[in-house]
Amino acid sequence: MANLPHFIQYQGSKRNLAKHILQVFPKNIRRLVEPFAGTAAMSVAASVNRIASSFWLNDLNKPLIELLELAIEEPSEIADSYLELWNAQHTNSVTHYFEVRSRFNETSDPKPLLYLLARCVKGSVRYNSEGLFNQSPDKRRKGTRPETMKRNIAGVSSLLKGKCKFTSLDYREVLEQIEDDDFIYMDPPYQGVCGNRDSRYLSGIDFDDFVLALEQLNRKGAKFAISYDGKLGDKTFGKVLPKSLNLEKIEIEVGRSSQSTLLGKEETTIESLYLSPSLSRGLTNTQIGDLSYIGKKPKQLTLLEKHGEFAAATR
Ligand SMILES: C[S@@+](CC[C@H](N)C(=O)[O-])C[C@H]1O[C@@H](n2cnc3c(N)ncnc32)[C@H](O)[C@@H]1O
Repeated sequence: MANLPHFIQYQGSKRNLAKHILQVFPKNIRRLVEPFAGTAAMSVAASVNRIASSFWLNDLNKPLIELLELAIEEPSEIADSYLELWNAQHTNSVTHYFEVRSRFNETSDPKPLLYLLARCVKGSVRYNSEGLFNQSPDKRRKGTRPETMKRNIAGVSSLLKGKCKFTSLDYREVLEQIEDDDFIYMDPPYQGVCGNRDSRYLSGIDFDDFVLALEQLNRKGAKFAISYDGKLGDKTFGKVLPKSLNLEKIEIEVGRSSQSTLLGKEETTIESLYLSPSLSRGLTNTQIGDLSYIGKKPKQLTLLEKHGEFAAATR
């Protein structure tokens, strides 16, 4: 599981957390729906583990979903176009990057997007307020080698080819079309402190709208899990979802923050996973207890329990 195939770096990708998140998924999913698919890390993980065989990948970022679709359905075509763009950078790679970026911003073509994602600073996407890709090139690296890219794309394609529906809708439209035995995994952008915009993604979401959509899912009895807020040390990021939704909250220790380590602080990053009532009903109390703090260091659990925060945070 540690080596789940992936061909793009994407901030917020759940690739490294997938094995923990997967523990709460039902073991036999008719269709896994990801309304905020990004790089579809959870669908890849669910396919590797054979717990789902049909997928609906949706993301409001249209070129990103088109790129995912091309990679899954036409892996050779996108690998060849990457090879061509990668080879063309050799005369002046920085100028070439800016040319490809302009082309992408004019056309929204997913092929140049793959090159930009592989070649931009720290592999991290940035959009300006007009939705234009504005990240700079990484001057020290030339981007993933074409043969590695081809292998990675083939890895993802072999797991999902012919099994997915691809759309680029607002998540609320997807949730309205949910069918009875779908399982939904949601990984929306964090609710930042400075409003709904997050330059890492093309669009943010409104907190109240999201809560309303979850209420409707609960009314339908839908099974879903959401990665939502998180903590670094004692700092919480993202708004906590209201208790009235009756969600079960599980905390996953992601690891030591490298920035905190640099500053000599002992801070760990914790991500929350919320389970819908119909999902947690299918789990026994012992399972929930075991999952409630999926950490790398059991010591942390003791600390949280001592301060009485654990029970409060999970109910
Ligand atoms: C945290 S990322 C998902 C990462 C994904 N789980 C992965 O493993 O790569 C959130 C995604 O939500 C998408 N998004 C933002 N607003 C949206 C909306 N209103 N409807 C659908 N998708 C949206 C963003 O484009 C972004 O790709």
